[in-house]
Amino acid sequence: MAVKYTVAMKRVIAIANQKGGVGKTTTAVNLAASLAATKRRVLLIDLDPQGNATMGSGIDKSQLERSSCDVLLDEIELSTAVVSVEPGGFSLLPANQDLTAAEVRLLTMPTGRETKLRNALAPVRDSYDVILIDCPPALNMLTVNSLVAANSVLIPMQCEYYALEGLSALLGTVEQIRVAVNPTLEIEGILRTMFDPRNNLANEVSAQLITHFGEKVFRTIIPRNIRLAEAPSFGRPVLFHDKESRGALSYLALAGEMIRREEEEKEDAGAGAAAAGAAVAASSASRTTVDASAGVTTGAARAGVGASSVDRPPAGGRPPATAEVKDSTVVSAPAATNFGMPVSGGLGSATPLEDRTEAAAGTPTAEPTSATSRSPQNADPAADENQARTLSD
Ligand SMILES: Nc1ncnc2c1ncn2[C@@H]1O[C@H](COP(=O)(O)OP(=O)(O)OP(=O)(O)O)[C@@H](O)[C@H]1O
Ligand SMILES: [Mg+2]
Repeated sequence: MAVKYTVAMKRVIAIANQKGGVGKTTTAVNLAASLAATKRRVLLIDLDPQGNATMGSGIDKSQLERSSCDVLLDEIELSTAVVSVEPGGFSLLPANQDLTAAEVRLLTMPTGRETKLRNALAPVRDSYDVILIDCPPALNMLTVNSLVAANSVLIPMQCEYYALEGLSALLGTVEQIRVAVNPTLEIEGILRTMFDPRNNLANEVSAQLITHFGEKVFRTIIPRNIRLAEAPSFGRPVLFHDKESRGALSYLALAGEMIRREEEEKEDAGAGAAAAGAAVAASSASRTTVDASAGVTTGAARAGVGASSVDRPPAGGRPPATAEVKDSTVVSAPAATNFGMPVSGGLGSATPLEDRTEAAAGTPTAEPTSATSRSPQNADPAADENQARTLSD
């Protein structure tokens, strides 16, 4: 397998959605394996008493000597409970039903109950490039610990009727945690999972997501795929079950998209810093130049701020006032909101997105339908296609 990416991500990403069965664990295990395939050092933390990420990684949850429960409650060194996942190439902090009791114990603690995981992670944060946390299907103390410890939250969701309703509750919790204890918590992205392009409702909900959350919606779509569903019963990530499957390719594409986004942010941050430096130099040259450069400074500073992943620019460029997309549909630039998310992305018409998964996964569309307009984040689908191909070579 060709390894193209070697840049460290250095991020703790909570994979959360209080709705059950939306693909959190499937995403956690397979994203861990896909990022590990790019030679990143990946730690997967199972923070769900169901222990599905543990079992799906091939570790028997009934035989654990140490688990995330011990880390949270007894404050043992996290590193002493970590096991290696092979095949998979990543590390795992396993969990089992003991975590249920841990959650109850946490709730009775007078202080510090939200920061247990963050404190436990502190000594190992630099030992990994990416730390993924598989959250339980609840906005409970375990999920709160994940969100407090995380730099960002990745939200898997199925495009169905009640999906958006659940999303606002989760975003509300994220906002509360930002205000109270973790001000830099970002939305990593919303991931459409188990997507079936033949389902009209799924297409409609998907279009609504783009409308409301714009570039925060990953371009990569995870299709409904039997290989993804059966891989856990073999105790291995789908990459080691059927690496040619659409499921495997789509999670490789997701890893590629995340890596590319991060690299773009770094480039933008660099460009912003360089422009800011130029403006400062210019401002010291003469009074006239100071006036002229003031705008540049402001613009550069904004570019720097915009380079954070809270306010991530569309793939392939900085946020324009308007972005012209492939079919000449003009899409308004997202207005800033609490999460750097647009109130309206301006994608007026429902956008069938079924072809995106196929493009991202580098496989032909099974049932092509007409994709008539594209959002800014889908301006360069070929990039993901190449990404998937490079990663899966
Ligand atoms: N893309 C997919 N295609 C087919 N089946 C899938 C896909 N993603 C997940 N599944 C299956 O759907 C079920 C739920 O997935 P998963 O366990 O990942 O969801 P979850 O959000 O972690 O659930 P919970 O909330 O219970 O923790 C599992 O049986 C899984 O194998
Ligand atoms: Mg799960």
